[in-house]
Amino acid sequence: MRYRTLSRTGIEVSPWASGALMLGVNRRTHHDNWICISHRALDAGINVVVRAALPPASSARTSAVGPSMIAPPADLIPSPLSGGDASTTPPCPEPQKAVRPTHDDRTGLMTHKQHPIGTGFTAASTVDDILAGIDLTGKNVVVTGGHSGLGLVATRALAEVGASVTVGSRNPDRAAAAMAGIERVEVGQLDLLDPTSIDAFVTRYVDSGRPLHILINNAAFLAPAEVGRDARGYEAQFAANHLGHFQLTLGLLPALRAAHGARVVNTTSGAQRMSDILWDDPHFTTGRYDPHLAYAQSKTANVLIAVELDRRWAAEGIRGYAAHPGVVAATAFNSSVGADAQRAMGLIDESGRPIIDPDRGKKTPQQGASTIVFAATSPLLAEIGGVYLNNNDISQLNDEQPPVTAQEVSADVVSHSIDPRSAQRLWELSERLLKA
Ligand SMILES: NC(=O)c1ccc[n+]([C@@H]2O[C@H](COP(=O)([O-])OP(=O)(O)OC[C@H]3O[C@@H](n4cnc5c(N)ncnc54)[C@H](OP(=O)(O)O)[C@@H]3O)[C@@H](O)[C@H]2O)c1
Repeated sequence: MRYRTLSRTGIEVSPWASGALMLGVNRRTHHDNWICISHRALDAGINVVVRAALPPASSARTSAVGPSMIAPPADLIPSPLSGGDASTTPPCPEPQKAVRPTHDDRTGLMTHKQHPIGTGFTAASTVDDILAGIDLTGKNVVVTGGHSGLGLVATRALAEVGASVTVGSRNPDRAAAAMAGIERVEVGQLDLLDPTSIDAFVTRYVDSGRPLHILINNAAFLAPAEVGRDARGYEAQFAANHLGHFQLTLGLLPALRAAHGARVVNTTSGAQRMSDILWDDPHFTTGRYDPHLAYAQSKTANVLIAVELDRRWAAEGIRGYAAHPGVVAATAFNSSVGADAQRAMGLIDESGRPIIDPDRGKKTPQQGASTIVFAATSPLLAEIGGVYLNNNDISQLNDEQPPVTAQEVSADVVSHSIDPRSAQRLWELSERLLKA
């Protein structure tokens, strides 16, 4: 394992552990190197997570809390901590001041809509709870990645209450097989990393003349260890999770308009709290690629686009939502980190079974998909949009969340994810990137 001594503290911190540390502090430090992150966290009194392989003497100010849900194996981290000694470390840059994003320039007031409304549902509610009494007969739905994991749960649940669901999948044959037996579903070829494929999906749907009542932008490209790029050179998670869905949403606008009342739901993640948009380098061109930052950035983008979409299109009856499903260990997306990592994260037990504790963010697929379905259908949201949802309610805004641990996965929305100026900026940047 690679690690080095931090001279100011005498505490040895592995790169992997630093990655976990970053979860608590990286809103201010994501441009910094790992050493700075570690120093900052220690200075702020935040516990350092140290791998068991480190000598016990190093545990003076450490805790044994597990890594976050996205903490990677050590060898995935391209770490500037490896080798060398602390005296050669460049000085830490000053942390940037946290932006207070919901500041309204006109009124000077802080405004935001992130107030729980007391829906009566809980973190343990399932898709069936949400859809009880809801009839979607005659409604059309598009779900990207609707053939697997949370998307499949949502597809099945929505179809069961009468919706016709079109699933976008890279591999339609595989998707059709996964959805065998579900009524009122069809599959369209859709690769979110391929603009031509997205255009073709859009053309097929719009040319069919069907209105689109619910668009669920759910698919996500899993963090590759090394930076992945699409044919345009765009970083793969930003390209698929955000830009691909943005292109899809813009293309489907005529069908959304034709519904005379439509919702766009972006499946996001609690990881949004871990990174703002890296405005200077969203595609990680300067060699600082970190798969987890890239994932977090793409999930922040999902929230920001929901915010801006709602601002732009609400007057036309098209509302935008971002839904965090919770942590669902059972899906391919989550389990791809490997059993050891999932165990260390407190997501599976010794025998490999998912640990289900919805109040601490750990959910079954039916519980996880519920917030997506809630965003897509709940009459309780009829008068509000542009919000981040968690546990089947509007999330509170919380910029002071504790670090994610094996015990607790807090996932409230943070300011950078709902900043209206960032939302507009990202929308405009994304339009330019699609045209480039
Ligand atoms: N599970 C969790 O703990 C968790 C936590 C927070 C947020 N989420 C979010 O929940 C959503 C669903 O994830 P999941 O957990 O249900 O995992 P999943 O079953 O692996 O779903 C991911 C889906 O995305 C599709 N996809 C990936 N790249 C694509 C591309 N380039 N074009 C089109 N489709 C693509 C995959 O299709 P293939 O089958 O072709 O690979 C798959 O259907 C994601 O947005 C994820 O970020 C999950």
